[in-house]
Amino acid sequence: MSDKIFDVQNVTLRFGGVVSLNDVSLHQNRGEILAVIGPNGAGKTSLFNSLTGVYQPQEGTITFLGRDAKPISIIGKKAHRVSAAGVARTFQASRMFSALTAFENVKIGAESHRGIGVLGAMLRGPATRRGEKTSDAKTEELLKFVGMTDKANVISASLSYGDRRRLEIARGLATDPQVLLLDEPAAGTNPSEKIQLTELIRKVRNEMGVSILLIEHDMKLVMSLAERLYVLNFGGVIAEGTPDEIRSNPAVIDAYLGSSTVETEERT
Ligand SMILES: Nc1ncnc2c1ncn2[C@@H]1O[C@H](COP(=O)(O)OP(=O)(O)O)[C@@H](O)[C@H]1O
Ligand SMILES: [Mg+2]
Repeated sequence: MSDKIFDVQNVTLRFGGVVSLNDVSLHQNRGEILAVIGPNGAGKTSLFNSLTGVYQPQEGTITFLGRDAKPISIIGKKAHRVSAAGVARTFQASRMFSALTAFENVKIGAESHRGIGVLGAMLRGPATRRGEKTSDAKTEELLKFVGMTDKANVISASLSYGDRRRLEIARGLATDPQVLLLDEPAAGTNPSEKIQLTELIRKVRNEMGVSILLIEHDMKLVMSLAERLYVLNFGGVIAEGTPDEIRSNPAVIDAYLGSSTVETEERT
């Protein structure tokens, strides 16, 4: 048990008649780069929302073993509590404050984590000033880590997709997470940005020791990055294994209808 960071047992999530997750059991080992793949509508984002306290599954258990491997039951916890426990995420659709600079967006991540809240961080009232210096230093450090020091003062709206994606990772890291959940981090990026992102994600795990849980449609990227994968289809886990095992799994090939290999999945 102590080598796991997430342990999901028999989780079922329903919205009226729609079953988004159907008896899902899976786990993530501490320090692992783990991926969840599957066709559109398979339940990948629902899983992330369940792991982060955004959705509350009706059945099953989700245990997060964060700092000191102390088990925390996620179902029933509010999203900000899950975040404070050490679970950070990025979203499928970018959620930057587009009128703020790169620096300000990361700083908000650092300050909201210290309990000031997004509004307090933006207003910078007297109560927030105490920690100002430390969050400035931390923000600078994180921008350097993701390779965006030269873009610190650029308004986020004018950044490229690739830069926005890196910035979101920096903002997630600002909360000092044990695990970082990335929902399609390479969506909308070009081939060279994809390579940069792959390297960055690997660096987050290798240098910061943060476990990575990844949803990604780009099969080349996901197969080169993930050490192990789960495949979801219609809300259920249909396969688990290493990239090589997944590539040659007939159930996986079937799930990606119309394509002879998982490499040719169409993006929608
Ligand atoms: N908030 C919600 N309300 C109703 N249905 C939802 C909600 N979130 C997800 N679903 C449904 O759950 C299923 C899985 O969706 P999702 O988790 O977004 O899939 P994926 O990320 O794999 O594309 C879909 O049928 C979707 O319509
Ligand atoms: Mg999704």
